[in-house]
Amino acid sequence: MNALNIIKKTQLLPLTTLVSRDDVEPLCDILMDVSIPLVEITLRDERTLEIVDEFKKFPEINLGIGTIRTKSHIDIANKANASFLITPGFSEDLADYAASKNIVMIPGVQTPSEIMKASEAGFKTLKFFPAELSGGASRLKAYKSVFSDIKFIPTGGITDENTLSYLALDNVTAVGASALIPADLIKSKSWEEIRNKLEKSKELISNS
Ligand code: 3PG
Repeated sequence: MNALNIIKKTQLLPLTTLVSRDDVEPLCDILMDVSIPLVEITLRDERTLEIVDEFKKFPEINLGIGTIRTKSHIDIANKANASFLITPGFSEDLADYAASKNIVMIPGVQTPSEIMKASEAGFKTLKFFPAELSGGASRLKAYKSVFSDIKFIPTGGITDENTLSYLALDNVTAVGASALIPADLIKSKSWEEIRNKLEKSKELISNS
């Protein structure tokens, strides 16, 4: 299944920044156990660049690499066998480079002009970032009639409290959130708590 279809199916895109190889296996085990076989690892720390290839040992997890801002980030993602890339904004140059490597890209947008640029370049699924600071679900609702062929993955400020208001919109494919894998729980290696958090969010969606 293509990465975009998996994201659409789970409706949740957990994201985090890992800095230790040792954290990759327990995280992948949990993601498989809770049937959310995907994760976005953000390149926010130099150490992440060194360890992201550890995910190659877990091919059942669809690895996304986020905070992609340079071609060398794309090279690192490619070497780690990433199935998708996420950029905070839209760059035609990076979009062309990702296409040349045959990796799915989800560019970030906020404004109508950015949506038009990304759409002209052929992207139909876009990250809406930073979602809560940019008008949240109400703004996406307003985009619906104008950009009826575009789907969004809102990210930035998404919590269990506002998840359902986004997923209720039919132009929202999934929500992306670091709150699904809280950084402090990774730091304290509280794997059971991370599992519970993911299960709770899944339940929230399936009960809606
Ligand atoms: C991102 O990297 O997409 C966002 O910074 C994540 O935002 P969040 O931490 O509020 O989920």
